[in-house]
Amino acid sequence: MTFQRKHILGLEELTAEEITLVLDTAESMKEVSERDVKKVPALRGVTVCNLFYEPSTRTRSSFEIAEKRLSADVLNFTLSHSSVTKGETLLDTARNLEAMGAGVIVIRHPMSGAPWLLAKELDSSIINAGDGSHEHPSQALLDLFTIREIKGRIKGLKVVIVGDILHSRVARSNIWGLVKLGAEVRVVGPPTLIPKYIENAKVRTFYNLDDAIEGADVIIMLRIQMERQESVYFPSLREYSRFYGLTREKLKRASEDVTVMHPGPINRGIELSSDIADDAGSVILAQVSNGIAVRMAMFYLVASAGRNV
Ligand code: CP
Repeated sequence: MTFQRKHILGLEELTAEEITLVLDTAESMKEVSERDVKKVPALRGVTVCNLFYEPSTRTRSSFEIAEKRLSADVLNFTLSHSSVTKGETLLDTARNLEAMGAGVIVIRHPMSGAPWLLAKELDSSIINAGDGSHEHPSQALLDLFTIREIKGRIKGLKVVIVGDILHSRVARSNIWGLVKLGAEVRVVGPPTLIPKYIENAKVRTFYNLDDAIEGADVIIMLRIQMERQESVYFPSLREYSRFYGLTREKLKRASEDVTVMHPGPINRGIELSSDIADDAGSVILAQVSNGIAVRMAMFYLVASAGRNV
């Protein structure tokens, strides 16, 4: 199949075939990343702007490395030194960047839906690097890629997503992707952090971590998102950690070869005990490394769709 999309905004709108094509393409891109000269000319002459309205370590760096490996011209927008501080709107800012030749805009924004607004109003291709509590497609795609790489498949796996489902764009995008690719998805967290949309998402909901991780093949731990919690959703971090933090004892209920993942950044001692964080470290860093190949694949497929870039 060929990829026909000008934008990559979320996994809710991608088909299983499109997701699989991104993962397959990322395998070739990973091979590029393992060469001595880690560069191909796929985006030569294309300007890509990284427009980040929220902090980021992994996603921003990973997109930038992916852009450079594809030979794009890279423009990094720094919010604190921009005219946003003088009141310029998102749309005006993006239109100005497009006027300077940005063929692709990678956007992270605290407002859910911001990438869709740009996709509607601009000619540039838009890639969503995380919008509010809504979607984080590149993270979910790299999670899917890493699961497929480690387990050899996604279909039929028991995948548990643990924690702050309500505020997590990582959870939402992963749920769409995992369900489309045939995984058996379970979510678990305090009732106050389980969102309404879950009822129609073809996943099983648990409130008890021991029950949820029984026989799990993959466990995706989520970060508690303090910055998105307007009210108090649980009595204390200590209590949250007691019931929903992953410990060696709790992990005994999972499958023997369970894979523990985390999108980062980790709150050590809250979502994961420090020893589990260290044990899972190689997988968590593999997620980060795979992110470059997956993001290269996203750019490559948007470019090969033949519009704008
Ligand atoms: N996983 C993730 O989105 O991390 P950053 O916020 O550091 O980009």
